[in-house]
Amino acid sequence: MTIVEVPDQTGKVVIITGYRGLAYHSALALAKANAEIILLARNVEKAKENAEKIKKESNNDKISVEYMDLCKFDTIRSFAKSYIERKKPLHILMNNAGIMAVKDRQVTEDGNELQFQTNYLGHFLLTHLLLPVLKSSAPARIVCLSSIAHVMLQASIYKNDINLEKGYTPWKAYCQSKLACLLFAYEMSRRLVGTNITINAVHPGIVDTGLWVHYASNFPLSKSFYNIFEKRVMITPEEGAQTQIYVATSKECETETGKYYANCKKSTSFNYLSYKKSLHKELYEISLKMTGLEKGIEPEVSQNEKVEKVENSN
Ligand SMILES: NC(=O)c1ccc[n+]([C@@H]2O[C@H](COP(=O)([O-])OP(=O)(O)OC[C@H]3O[C@@H](n4cnc5c(N)ncnc54)[C@H](OP(=O)(O)O)[C@@H]3O)[C@@H](O)[C@H]2O)c1
Repeated sequence: MTIVEVPDQTGKVVIITGYRGLAYHSALALAKANAEIILLARNVEKAKENAEKIKKESNNDKISVEYMDLCKFDTIRSFAKSYIERKKPLHILMNNAGIMAVKDRQVTEDGNELQFQTNYLGHFLLTHLLLPVLKSSAPARIVCLSSIAHVMLQASIYKNDINLEKGYTPWKAYCQSKLACLLFAYEMSRRLVGTNITINAVHPGIVDTGLWVHYASNFPLSKSFYNIFEKRVMITPEEGAQTQIYVATSKECETETGKYYANCKKSTSFNYLSYKKSLHKELYEISLKMTGLEKGIEPEVSQNEKVEKVENSN
């Protein structure tokens, strides 16, 4: 995999979810090209350590970390609200963070299956809440991390059991979430026509990052398979980050939208479901409900703020 040459990003503001693995290398490449970067992380201390490394290696001190946990919608809403209040632009949103193949079904405090919320619903919410600022900063680009896993046998949108209460398996949950990320990019690209905001989905390759931790530790034989696999097939995190960096910054992708990329090229999905526009729309509507966005894109006013408003108006 060749390393992408990133055009100068002076004046560009970038938000990346995550701080290690592909997020780290994406941030480093963009920082070297002079972008200002905000890493959104639930593990702020560790993310700050990486931000310091990026600052040193890139000689760019415009790297910061803010708290946001994709498993907690209220933290996404708080971040978005505070970001909008700053009146700061946003030119690139990289919906990157994720988890894979968690052994047992877990549910977030918002009541959703863990992988579906972390990988997909959290980013769906974040993207919508940041849309006003992306629109006012346009041209802007949104990059969604999907995966080749969206073509696996179990990859479907389980409309009647989207939180997999009845039939959870670690891969079924991951594949559904990654197919959802791809369908979101397709659906959103149509909804963003005329805004000068592009949105594309990416498969980064099979990359040796922390993502494999559940797979390597939770399944019989998978640790040894992982060890063999890792040595022979996997690419490095720096190599893996190239496609998302390319889509976020290259001249060639400036106006491309609603596409799926792998290996720094437009690619073809081999899941027939990805071509069903009716499913894109259906998933979009289900997601609006699951994130509470059907009531509007403004961050919900918290209970305390509501009380303050009522008291002030009396
Ligand atoms: N690696 C691959 O082979 C591969 C292949 C296809 C697609 N992808 C996709 O690429 C993306 C990046 O993965 P990676 O390979 O870089 O994995 P990684 O090294 O494990 O990094 C994942 C990042 O996501 C963050 N994260 C997880 N749960 C979060 C939450 N609830 N809130 C906020 N941040 C959270 C992690 O932070 P914590 O330290 O807090 O967990 C970490 O920074 C994922 O979406 C993945 O599905 C990867």
